[in-house]
Amino acid sequence: MRKIGIIGGTGIYSPEALSGFVEKIVETPYGQALCNIGEMAGNKVVFITRHGVGHKTPPHKVNYRANIWALKSLGIEEIFATTAVGSLNPEMKAGHFVVCDNALDFTKSRINTFYDTPERGVAHVDFTHPYCPVLRQKVINCLKQTDITFHDHGVYVCTEGPRFETAAEIKMFAMLGGDLVGMTNLPESLLAREAEICYTNCSIVTNMAAGISPIPLSHKEVVEEMARSIKNMEKLITAFIAYNEPVEVECGCAHAMAEFGGFKL
Ligand code: HPA
Repeated sequence: MRKIGIIGGTGIYSPEALSGFVEKIVETPYGQALCNIGEMAGNKVVFITRHGVGHKTPPHKVNYRANIWALKSLGIEEIFATTAVGSLNPEMKAGHFVVCDNALDFTKSRINTFYDTPERGVAHVDFTHPYCPVLRQKVINCLKQTDITFHDHGVYVCTEGPRFETAAEIKMFAMLGGDLVGMTNLPESLLAREAEICYTNCSIVTNMAAGISPIPLSHKEVVEEMARSIKNMEKLITAFIAYNEPVEVECGCAHAMAEFGGFKL
């Protein structure tokens, strides 16, 4: 039995496939996390909606540590996270799905580690590849079996938000090699790595980024474009949960903290 966590971003609040799941508030040292727990395709599945019920928590206020801790304490070993993104890359257009393979962290105010107390000590985790290669391959294999237009790589730029970017920032991110811009993948992916949980992201392009888009950016545009992609994302989540075959790549996510004695709850 696989133990799968799904973190639903903007627009992905309660996938139909999860009907019959049981809601549970999980207490963590960082606060509470609301989890929906159930079973699908013979696997344990825990679903968390990142922005909370009714999309009330902005990206810089999401309790990323509570969410990842809760998933770890429920035994989750794989996390599939969805995110809405703007695109800097003319090939990546609205409605396209992107399985990112790297990231640039431009967040400013977020607590981005579990290792910030004397008890835990100092730890520097390897983050060369921020997304688990095994899970990326599973998602790519699932996408290949659909008619969804997707890209099997992309560099995700994480900004602090909640404002959208300036045109000059977007120009800079493009010069640095960024493909997509969003507000949530960091520190989420990093905390999952510290917690020794495999993590991958599938981004949905909702708009061209600031200064590339001919119109001012709006949350309404993001939400409306996400609404058009929800059925596709739900299909992908269901396929990912049911994808129980092995893939030809390996990862070291489960032992990411071995040098520091392993991650302990
Ligand atoms: N910028 C940042 N986050 C986003 C965007 C964007 O253009 N679109 C969707 N999420």
